[in-house]
Amino acid sequence: MSQAASSNHLASGIAVRPLTDCVGAEITGVDLAAVTDAEFTVITEAFDRHAGLLFHDQHLEPEALVAFSRRFGDLDHAPVMENGQTAVPGLPEVYLVSNIEGADGKPIGSLGAGEAVWHTDMSYLDMPPDISMLNAVEVPPSGGDTWLCGMHAAYEALPEALKRQVAGLRIKHDGTYNSGGYVRRGAKVTDDPRESPGTFHPILCAHPRTGAPLLYLGRRRMAYVEGLPLAESEALLDDLWAYATREENAYRHSWRVGDLLVWDNRATMHRRDPFDASARRLMRRTQVRGKTKPVALAG
Ligand code: OGA
Ligand code: MN
Repeated sequence: MSQAASSNHLASGIAVRPLTDCVGAEITGVDLAAVTDAEFTVITEAFDRHAGLLFHDQHLEPEALVAFSRRFGDLDHAPVMENGQTAVPGLPEVYLVSNIEGADGKPIGSLGAGEAVWHTDMSYLDMPPDISMLNAVEVPPSGGDTWLCGMHAAYEALPEALKRQVAGLRIKHDGTYNSGGYVRRGAKVTDDPRESPGTFHPILCAHPRTGAPLLYLGRRRMAYVEGLPLAESEALLDDLWAYATREENAYRHSWRVGDLLVWDNRATMHRRDPFDASARRLMRRTQVRGKTKPVALAG
C-alpha cells in the first residue's frame, strides 16, 4: 500500500476539499487538539499541495495551538509587547492580532481594524517564517475577511517574456512598515525604496519542500528591484503584482469563531479587509520559524 493510501486508511475520518483551483483546501473530520500521526500526514500532504488550509470548529486553548503549530517545526517567539510581556503569559510563541483595547486603553494585539494590504509575513528578514496560522477567538459581525492568493499560480500566469526578464533578479523587501502600514520599531522612514532598510530575495523561487516554482513578492510598498533605475523597478513591480493579486486567483475567508487558517508564507500572500473599529476581533497566532532562506529557482 502506498504511504498516502495507508495514512488515509488510518486517518479515516479526515477529508480534504479544495477551496479554489489555485490555493487553499478545507480539512474536515479532525480535532487539532488531538491530531494523530496519520492525520498529520494527510494534513502535510494537503498543505504541500494547497499552500493554505482551513479548519472549522477548532476552539483551541493557547497551549493546544502551540502544540499543533510545533508539528510543522520550531516556532518563533512572538514580539514582546510594550509592557514587556508576551501576549499570553508563559507562552512566548503566541501572538495576538486584535483591535481590542486592554485596561490601559492600548490594543492588546497588532494590526488594528484597518486593511492589511497584500503581503507575505516578515519577508524583510533573511529567513522569513515558513508558516503562519490564525485561530479565531472573536470575530466582527462583518468585515475583517482574510484573503489568500497562490504564488505558484501567479508564477504560472506570468508571460514567458516576463519570467525571462526577472530570472536572476532580486527584490529588496522593505523593513520599514508592517502590513497594517505601521512603522516597525526602530525603523528610519524614507520615501526612497533604494535607501530603505530591507533584505534582498530572489523574485523567482523554488519551494524548498516541493520544488514548485513560485513568484515571491513580499509587499508592494517600498519594494525595489535590485540594480534597476527606480522608475523601471516601479513599473516592473506593478507588472508582477498584477499577476499575483487577481481576485479570481484568491480565496476569501469570512471568519467564524473556532476557524483555524494556516498558510505557507513561501507559496501564498495574504491580506485582510478592514472592519468596524468598534467591533471586536481577536485572533491567536503562531509562526513556524524559517528553515531556509527563500531559494532561487534554478535555470
Ligand atoms: C497576520 C495577518 C491578517 C488577519 O497575522 O500575519 O496578516 O486577517 N493577519 O488578521
Ligand atoms: Mn500577515
